Amino acid sequence: MIITRRTLLGAAAAIACAAAIPAFAAKPLTIGFSQVGAESEWRTANTASIKDAAKKAGVNLKFADAQQQQQNQVKAIRSFIAQRVDVIAFSPVVETGWETVLREAKNAKIPVILTDRAVKVTDPSLYVSFIGSDFVEEGRRAGRWLLDYAKKNGDKPLNIVELQGTTGAAPAIDRRNGFAEVIGTNPKLKVIRSQTADFTRAKGKEVMEAFLKSEGKKINVLYAHNDDMAIGAIQAIEEAGLKPGKDIIIISIDGVKGAFEAMKAGKLNVTVECNPLLGPTLIQTAQDVVAGKPVPKRIVVNEGVFPAEVAAKELPNRKY
Ligand code: AHR
Repeated sequence: MIITRRTLLGAAAAIACAAAIPAFAAKPLTIGFSQVGAESEWRTANTASIKDAAKKAGVNLKFADAQQQQQNQVKAIRSFIAQRVDVIAFSPVVETGWETVLREAKNAKIPVILTDRAVKVTDPSLYVSFIGSDFVEEGRRAGRWLLDYAKKNGDKPLNIVELQGTTGAAPAIDRRNGFAEVIGTNPKLKVIRSQTADFTRAKGKEVMEAFLKSEGKKINVLYAHNDDMAIGAIQAIEEAGLKPGKDIIIISIDGVKGAFEAMKAGKLNVTVECNPLLGPTLIQTAQDVVAGKPVPKRIVVNEGVFPAEVAAKELPNRKY
């Protein structure tokens, strides 16, 4: 081999590059995460879990709060694309309307991970993985608890009012369907009013006040798609001079500490768990995707049902 100046320069450049590799490899992973908002106790715990897991893993997390507006999420995703983050993750406010922006992410070769809520897209390759609960099953669990309650309490006709989550959001659609599917097997269980209260306490109270005004003592059961709306409704029920948990049976979803406190106080009858602690799984999945490892298309979270009878014992163990 003839060694020329050029060869030597090439070798020197190669050595310089090799020396630079460790520094390059140590570059932290950057994830752009668009959160729904801060509408509930569940959401606060979910945000904390994601921020905490990112910090522990040394991940650079770019966090954007969409304040429950889809257009804010679309804007955030576009900004993550422009910043060339390694992975985009988001918890979609609503199910539909994502095709265009997700295609932009795909064209930019940035993998997208869905957390908590699903999207409806015709092309499933627009995201790599969806980590979250089975909301239909949560609705079914709430319905099964009510079937059982009805059976144990003389199988009388029961009028139900329903506080739905955000219109168009996966948990609102799925929890409604799952519940309806199960209670549909008992013709004595009837949903007499159903309206959105946007997953918030304030709206839960407001809509429950309207239900009480129009239906009064006809209401036997309240089914709320999350604990926060149930807690708001409890206030409305008390202000109407009724006893929540007794005059009106209350079923809700999430399993946050506030719900356990309400159950301990005898004001809520059951909460179906929805686990918000998705941070560690999200960060691990993002790391795997970037490392080129195969990741499951769907990661479902394991959850339970907590009736009021176990609230006092379980409350000290609750992590959110
Ligand atoms: O998507 C999960 C739901 O969104 C939780 O049940 C609710 O509390 C939140 O706002």
